[in-house]
Amino acid sequence: QPRTVEGVVDLDLPGHTISRHVYGHFAEHLGRCIYGGFYVGEDSPIPNEGGIRLDVVEALRALDIPNLRWPGGCFADDYHWKDGIGPREQRPTMVNSHWGDVVEDNSFGTHEFMALCELLGTEPYISANVGSGTVAEASDWVQYLTRADASPMAALRRANGREEPWKVRFWGLGNEPWGCGGRMSAEAYGELARTFGTYSRDMGDNTLYRIAAGAANADYRWTEVLMKALGRGLGGAEDPGFGNHAYQAISFHCYTVAGSWEHKGSATEFDLDEYYSTVLQAQRIEEVLAGHARVMDVYDPQRQVGLVLDEWGTWFDVEPGTNPGFLFQQNALRDALVASVHFDAFHRHADRLVMANIAQTVNVLQAMILTDEDSGALVLTPSYHVFEMNKGHHDAAHLPVHLRGEVPTRTVPDVRGLGGHGPSGHGIYERGPADLTTVSLSASAKDGRALFSLTNLDAEQAVTVRLTVRGTAAGAPTARLLTAGAVQAHNTPAQLEAVAPRDHTSSVRLEGAPGAQTLVVELPAHSFATVELPTA
Ligand code: AHR
Repeated sequence: QPRTVEGVVDLDLPGHTISRHVYGHFAEHLGRCIYGGFYVGEDSPIPNEGGIRLDVVEALRALDIPNLRWPGGCFADDYHWKDGIGPREQRPTMVNSHWGDVVEDNSFGTHEFMALCELLGTEPYISANVGSGTVAEASDWVQYLTRADASPMAALRRANGREEPWKVRFWGLGNEPWGCGGRMSAEAYGELARTFGTYSRDMGDNTLYRIAAGAANADYRWTEVLMKALGRGLGGAEDPGFGNHAYQAISFHCYTVAGSWEHKGSATEFDLDEYYSTVLQAQRIEEVLAGHARVMDVYDPQRQVGLVLDEWGTWFDVEPGTNPGFLFQQNALRDALVASVHFDAFHRHADRLVMANIAQTVNVLQAMILTDEDSGALVLTPSYHVFEMNKGHHDAAHLPVHLRGEVPTRTVPDVRGLGGHGPSGHGIYERGPADLTTVSLSASAKDGRALFSLTNLDAEQAVTVRLTVRGTAAGAPTARLLTAGAVQAHNTPAQLEAVAPRDHTSSVRLEGAPGAQTLVVELPAHSFATVELPTA
């Protein structure tokens, strides 16, 4: 197997823009994501503003998070937003039947969520209830949030202390309608979605970006049915019937599940076979993105309709001793590599993929932040660091990187896992042996510099990447590296920096004269690096 990989990148040929929204986030009323994660209540000894944890806000502000999806997930289709407004002590309670069957007191509602978005400097992405809600409820919610006049919903908002309407662009209608969101067929959801979309109106100068709830994993048929059902309204412009009530995007969900649905495997205790199987599954996001994009191209060759991957990430067994309904899992270096591989694919497909949301931001599944239940201590996960190191790709122009010659691969003897979630998996993955390409990379250009992201998935061997640079670099490269002693390494309150980025500049160099330069990057085993190169 070659231990050097060669490629070529042209600094003078920037491609499509990578929307910053592919670095989006997701916060559901699930386990300790909202309560104990984002929100501790005003009486908490943990420093907060209006109950919102300020250390969590500060950590996430460093990621420039572009949008935050809320209130679910499955919870969204059980949620009645009017229960979450007004004086907190008067808000009714409800049962969170999907997640631990616990009682939800609705103390975190619309105003708290919008305050959180303001503190984070992020755009809200709200998922309205289609599964058990009404068209009128969804319509009222838009009015409550975005209407400026003396209409009933705007007056109600004012009575609850908010004078000015908020700006809300991203508006999801339903969640996983094929499963927890109502067990509908694609055709049934398509019909319902037309109605909900019609009554989710633009108010004044607030323009909604309506996102229809889409497929599980590689269910391309679902995408096709929606493209047909919503098609004439999609993109809006040419359809006088739908006008500005058209859908602008279709979503899908795709998790990385390393084991079976019943035994997903531990987030920190796994062998190398399981490791390779997991990263191979992560890499296959590329073909799933391409599959949905292919179907959409048939109905929308101009690429006006966005594809939104509004749930992705690793899904392992919950940590021993924690509530199985709370989906709390640790986060190891393996998760960071899963994230970096996803971002490489997102960058390549950003001509269709307009948004993606990691599931979920705090204390649930592949989290950025874990908060300790007893001490309240905050832990930044290895995945957090990938989001931070990749920040320079936000709204940058994609620079295609072409590998040439032999690329390092490994044969994964048994691809375990479903490659998707839910008891049936909706997976696309054949079991059995498969080849994993162990180097993943992508690049972008913005503001006079190119940013390269490089991942070595090989758990045992280092690799040297040599990229021929077309165009002229205007200075020396700098680099950062994320790695640790093992792919199982993770951060805890006692060891906050077991996996943290460090300077890697001494391991990158630019060889050759301007016009014939080669960027050389040394990547240790199981590592992720970013390299910045000033451009002419
Ligand atoms: O992210 C956890 C859950 O996974 C979401 O609520 C649901 O949409 C998906 O099945």
